Amino acid sequence: MAFKHMARKRVAILISGRGSNMVALIEAAKDPAYPAEIVLVVSNDPAAQGLHRAAASGITTAVVDHKTFGRDRESFERALHAEFQEHGVELICLAGFMRLLTPWFVRQWEGRLINIHPALLPAFKGLDTHARAIAAGAREHGATVHFVVPEMDSGPIILQGKVAVAPDDTEATLAARVLAVEHRIYPEALRLVAEGHATPTGA
Ligand code: GRF
Repeated sequence: MAFKHMARKRVAILISGRGSNMVALIEAAKDPAYPAEIVLVVSNDPAAQGLHRAAASGITTAVVDHKTFGRDRESFERALHAEFQEHGVELICLAGFMRLLTPWFVRQWEGRLINIHPALLPAFKGLDTHARAIAAGAREHGATVHFVVPEMDSGPIILQGKVAVAPDDTEATLAARVLAVEHRIYPEALRLVAEGHATPTGA
């Protein structure tokens, strides 16, 4: 039987906080058969808890602190871009990364930059998705992995996972249920992208 060996895609994860989605991706990539390897974790916040968790898994970490660039977003992003190039990064996963990226950066990485959002897009773009879903009386909620385009929380959808909203759900209980879904679908979505089975055009 012919066996085609495919090189694993070199992936960087961008974080700003606790990094539980990052951990889910790192765990999935520990399997040598997984089509991506995590080569770098970058945080814009030097205090991000996720940096310790990445280092504990032996992953190279870097900090590009947006505060040192003031209002100059493009210089911040050029510094990020330089990190990715230095490490031969081929795909980027945003995982709780709390900075908006400029069209310049998004175009550099078009089709190779993905994000997870804690709602069933196109519903509830932006922040406080769980509270807003409850306030709206949504029966269903969930998470979406999508390709990043310049417009926030838009872009072609790769995978979604749903949860039912219970009548007695609080923001915290709903967030916890959605987070478990995030940890399941993000590694699955990265697999699809790394294997070339999900593309922004669907082609
Ligand atoms: C997740 O809910 C993610 O969907 C959102 O921010 C949260 C980050 O959590 N974008 P973590 O840092 O991955 O634990």
